[in-house]
Amino acid sequence: MAKTFKIAVLPGDGTGPEVIQEGIKVLEAAGQRFGFKYDFQNFDFGGARYLSTGEVLPESAVSDLKQFDSIFLGAIGHPDVKPGILEKGILLRLRFELDQYINLRPVKLFKGVDTPLKNKGPEEIDYVVVRENSGGIYTGIGGVSMKGTPDEVAVQNMVYSRFQVERCLRYAFDYTMKRNRKKTLALCGKTNVLTYVFDLWERAFHEIGAKDFPEIKREYYHVDATCMWMVKNPEWFDVIVTNNMFGDIITDLGAITQGGMGIAAGGNINPEGVSMFEPIGGSAPKYTGKNMINPLAAICAGAMMLDTLGEHEAARCIEDAVSDATSTKIKDMGAGRMGYTTTEVGDMIAATVAGG
Ligand code: IPM
Ligand code: MN
Repeated sequence: MAKTFKIAVLPGDGTGPEVIQEGIKVLEAAGQRFGFKYDFQNFDFGGARYLSTGEVLPESAVSDLKQFDSIFLGAIGHPDVKPGILEKGILLRLRFELDQYINLRPVKLFKGVDTPLKNKGPEEIDYVVVRENSGGIYTGIGGVSMKGTPDEVAVQNMVYSRFQVERCLRYAFDYTMKRNRKKTLALCGKTNVLTYVFDLWERAFHEIGAKDFPEIKREYYHVDATCMWMVKNPEWFDVIVTNNMFGDIITDLGAITQGGMGIAAGGNINPEGVSMFEPIGGSAPKYTGKNMINPLAAICAGAMMLDTLGEHEAARCIEDAVSDATSTKIKDMGAGRMGYTTTEVGDMIAATVAGG
């Protein structure tokens, strides 16, 4: 009997549902071709639900989602909801409570895609950022006193335990081994200013690397310099590991070098639990319902999901189909500039996956 993956689908807000629909179309095609099935179940978490019920996430959400093999997420963010409520209440809460402690974000320039980096192509722009996803400034530890007065003090702490740092680094070393390219792992930090937190990261990095991953070459870059080299010499990188906040920032820079939010995908990974895959971009409300948004990021997120579920061949087939489309057909990664509609792009990739 064919294997069936239980997938929770969270289309979310804005253009989320449109890109998720195309993502599912392509996943279905891959399942047919490679002999597996899905049991998709939709959840309506997002801005619309919050505005009508006043509840960001139902009580049972986390325990319900734990019953699935994986989660496929569109986008969270609604123009009528104050920034922070949905991001913290849905996206960050799920990352934390499902302990998706890795945010895996490939920076890969597909053939035929324009990059703002002069004289750089797919050969030069192909690396992966392993962003720690469970700690750091994102935990919300901190506070405020004397709010609204001239004496107001606000604190937001960067908190890391050795446990969190170590599990992230081990994942990154392991990933670098499996990727088997340059066998080089770069730690991106700020040891010259964050003398406590990055001292912890740096010591753990070298201890673990020297003891358990001697084949992996270790490099260190400050985060500001990392930004510079991501623009000037992206070909230096193989895998970059970094904390939550720096990872957030450098992956937007990475995304624009690979063609922008239309194509950048990521995975929130709990290697021992339920992971969640998403296009990195937001809900792009102004394009909602126009059949203009680029679904490739969601389609690539679907490929990452299959890879994590062990369907490596199917994942590669989707990536190849995307590469084929970007190199010969799709004109531009921007919404409304692809030369095709959202659904046409989904159809095109699905057809290649099914037939090729
Ligand atoms: C991302 C986003 C989120 C983050 C926001 C929406 C909370 O920017 O996934 O990169 O900061 O992690
Ligand atoms: Mn971000």
